[in-house]
Amino acid sequence: MKLGVCYYPEQWPEDLWADDARRMAELGITWVRIAEFAWSRIEPEPGRFDWAWLDRAVETLAAAGLKIIMCTPTATPPKWLVDKHPDMLAVDAEGRPRGFGSRRHYCFSSQAYRAECARITEAVAGRYGRHPAVGAWQTDNEFGCHDTTISYSPNAARAFRIWLAQRYQSVDALNRAWGAVFWSQEYRDFDEVQPPNLTVTEANPSHRLDYNRFASNEVASFNRLQVDIIRRLSPGRDVTHNFMGFYTEFDHFAVGRDLDLATWDSYPLGFLEQFWFPDDEKLRYLRQGHPDISAFHHDLYRGVGRGRWGVMEQQPGPVNWARYNPAPLPGAVRSWTWEAFAHGAELVSYFRWRQAPFAQEQMHAGLNRPDNVLDQGGHEAAAVAREVEALGQLAACAQARVALIFSYEADWQFGIQPHARGFRWLQLAFEFYSALRQLGLDVDIVPPDADFTGYALVVAPSLPILDPATVAALTASGAVVLFGPRTGSRTRDGHIPPNLPPGPLQARMPLRVARVESLRPGAEPAIALDGQNVSGRLWREIVETDLAALATFVDGGPAWMAQSGWHYLATWPDADLLGAVMRRIVMEAGLPTTALHADVRLRRRDGLQFAFNFAAEPRPTPAPLGAAYVLGGPELAAAGVAAWRVGS
Ligand code: GAL
Repeated sequence: MKLGVCYYPEQWPEDLWADDARRMAELGITWVRIAEFAWSRIEPEPGRFDWAWLDRAVETLAAAGLKIIMCTPTATPPKWLVDKHPDMLAVDAEGRPRGFGSRRHYCFSSQAYRAECARITEAVAGRYGRHPAVGAWQTDNEFGCHDTTISYSPNAARAFRIWLAQRYQSVDALNRAWGAVFWSQEYRDFDEVQPPNLTVTEANPSHRLDYNRFASNEVASFNRLQVDIIRRLSPGRDVTHNFMGFYTEFDHFAVGRDLDLATWDSYPLGFLEQFWFPDDEKLRYLRQGHPDISAFHHDLYRGVGRGRWGVMEQQPGPVNWARYNPAPLPGAVRSWTWEAFAHGAELVSYFRWRQAPFAQEQMHAGLNRPDNVLDQGGHEAAAVAREVEALGQLAACAQARVALIFSYEADWQFGIQPHARGFRWLQLAFEFYSALRQLGLDVDIVPPDADFTGYALVVAPSLPILDPATVAALTASGAVVLFGPRTGSRTRDGHIPPNLPPGPLQARMPLRVARVESLRPGAEPAIALDGQNVSGRLWREIVETDLAALATFVDGGPAWMAQSGWHYLATWPDADLLGAVMRRIVMEAGLPTTALHADVRLRRRDGLQFAFNFAAEPRPTPAPLGAAYVLGGPELAAAGVAAWRVGS
């Protein structure tokens, strides 16, 4: 449980550095991330390196006892490099090259850019790889940020064809897989295939799905190129990447397999404002953040990092990039930091040390104001440092009893054919997660090919492309299982399965989806549940089955079916139905629940039970009378945290 900070020595007069380093250490910060945007200062001209300033920055931080997370600067190729390789630019879906003047203006498929990245990574890792203060590495910065995973450049088109040829071996196999006979889309050669943009109407969905898979693979291989160099030149150091929130355009589990730990960038207020949440929730959680947004990502990135993870950037005050940018409630920054630790974080690092008075992010808070006075976030970071010191370090999180299956491919599939406006896989997954968390449960978020041994309950919000191996692994685990709508609705190639949805699930649950419909808001299908009126949303399946229904569409047909601990939902459940389903399956799995106030959440780590209050008013702490508190007490402050000892 270490605290860190993102620092940009190149942006400040050198006479501030020593004082900055001293104040960081005094605050209780032990890790400093540097250099991820510093290419133009490290290599001001092709092949001419200026290490002097970075050497001095490293020595200054090291002299204050700080450990360094060194970054590769490849998210911001300098102007001379872009001019040298104009075709390294990414191209957007409208066919326009993305210009110089901000960041991430590169295409993952440019071999020329990959060679430059290998060169700068060799140079930086060669220079600092064995420095005793350099304890870890970050590759690049936020792969995919600003919509940059998918590029439609000629370089990407070339690489895509090679990827297709390897995948399909023959162009006939590709034509079959894409159903290319439809609309005379057949190809005679892989060389004829283009990326799926600029088509008159929608492009072929299988073509698009393969383009997502290809682009995802490009990110993984781009990252691996740097990781391999760093491992060779900087042995024994952890290598990470800072992933984003609510971002699904590449398979993070695949990238995570090449890293020692996953980190992510947590902006609780920015995410609440920027995503699908209704206005009343945006107002209700305005300054505290939504109770499930950070936790959802903490649990996801614990999975991506195979148990090891951290927060590389934590919001310290108002950000600059959301539609509206409120300030956190006093206490929120402290509470978010503890929330990450409660979910198992090894590191929480704040973005950034000091607010910059110039350029794009001058309206983004830091731990310090631009005039170098410690701001609210800085005081709260210091408070956490003192609390961690008093408490001592905690062991990693134990495996939870509940797993939620997260599938990047599912999100792509629904993005390509949502069939209903607003049918977002990610939102469905988030709602399933949230419903479990409202019952006080700890949840692991795992990939579809996870080992499910040890889980009492596994929830799959939807797995449209259902691998029979997943069905077998779930069966072997003996867990209670819930599948959401549209599970098994596509083959690997993106076709409707020959035996109709839910495809391979039929081997375990005798039901067949004969027809589907999607329904606009206002036309929600009414559902009867134990005499209660609930409803579905957006989506409804007409199911043929002999299974008994636990809930039924009012005008006929099962909405919720179960057999021997396996459950299936034929609609996107509203909050009441979802709550009822979760209570039932949690009970079947034999798991204890906790009655919680709507704005309160729990998380356990190493014999401590943490509770977090996301309300703007105090709430009673859901602890037994006489609990042995290590943080807080019986009243949970607004945006507050409490923790007490429990048996493990
Ligand atoms: C992140 C990014 C940082 C900074 C920050 C501002 O997405 O990694 O460089 O831009 O957002 O909130």
